[in-house]
Amino acid sequence: MLELENVSAVRGDRTIWEEGTFHVPSGSIVAVIGPNGSGKTTLLTMILGLLKPGSGTLRVLGEEPRRGNSRIGYVPQNYAAIAGDSIRACDMVLLGLTGTRYGLKRTTASEHARVQEALAEVGATHFADRRMSQLSGGQQQRVAIAQALVSKPEMLLLDEPLANLDVRNQQDIVSLLKRINAESGIGILVVAHDLNPLLSALDGAIYLLDGHPHYAGVDDVVSEELLTHLYGTAIKVVRTAQGDLFTRSA
Ligand SMILES: Nc1ncnc2c1ncn2[C@@H]1O[C@H](COP(=O)(O)OP(=O)(O)OP(=O)(O)O)[C@@H](O)[C@H]1O
Ligand SMILES: [Mg+2]
Repeated sequence: MLELENVSAVRGDRTIWEEGTFHVPSGSIVAVIGPNGSGKTTLLTMILGLLKPGSGTLRVLGEEPRRGNSRIGYVPQNYAAIAGDSIRACDMVLLGLTGTRYGLKRTTASEHARVQEALAEVGATHFADRRMSQLSGGQQQRVAIAQALVSKPEMLLLDEPLANLDVRNQQDIVSLLKRINAESGIGILVVAHDLNPLLSALDGAIYLLDGHPHYAGVDDVVSEELLTHLYGTAIKVVRTAQGDLFTRSA
């Protein structure tokens, strides 16, 4: 779903990262990891066609990135802060279909039906008529995902969708991502600080190490040496008797 050949990310006169050369297989669930400011959101911005590569070639779903690409669904970092407090959840989801047409034109019956379908896919039907400000963080995140999915994209980008969620809600969101990936084959990129809630779902990860992005399968990424280097603090990788894998600060 992603092909990078010697890609660099440049903001103004600053190079954020460079020499990105890797392929991410279609239909996989992939984490994007790296310290604060390493350029994770910047990568998503480039995939969305909002920032051109400083150099090299980037291909997304086999084509050049372009703005407003309906083949990509996007859940921004801090979605709750961007969503209007008084807007109903179902209207936020509708925005994913109509974009700027909100309030200017009547919704068609098929648009309305698709919104209901997307709300059901994420388990948000029972709070769809509530205002955004009246929803919990976990509920708001479901609305965000429904909004991103409503146009039936082939690829989903989520920027820290697990931030500010308790462990239970983190697991629920990860289960939801696994289910929609299994059902539709949609490729999923998830920016995350904590790999643990995602480990059971991941095929691989893009990691931003010392100003260079790389891609590796999950078994290679979950390594004490790599994670310790990546985060600049000692990380231990632990496998439980049940075979579950997790990481923790040493
Ligand atoms: N619009 C912008 N204009 C100029 N520089 C920017 C802009 N957005 C981000 N940057 C800079 O680019 C670098 C990478 O930022 P980015 O937001 O991609 O990091 P991140 O890995 O997503 O960080 P975080 O984990 O804090 O979300 C940072 O140094 C940041 O200050
Ligand atoms: Mg970010």
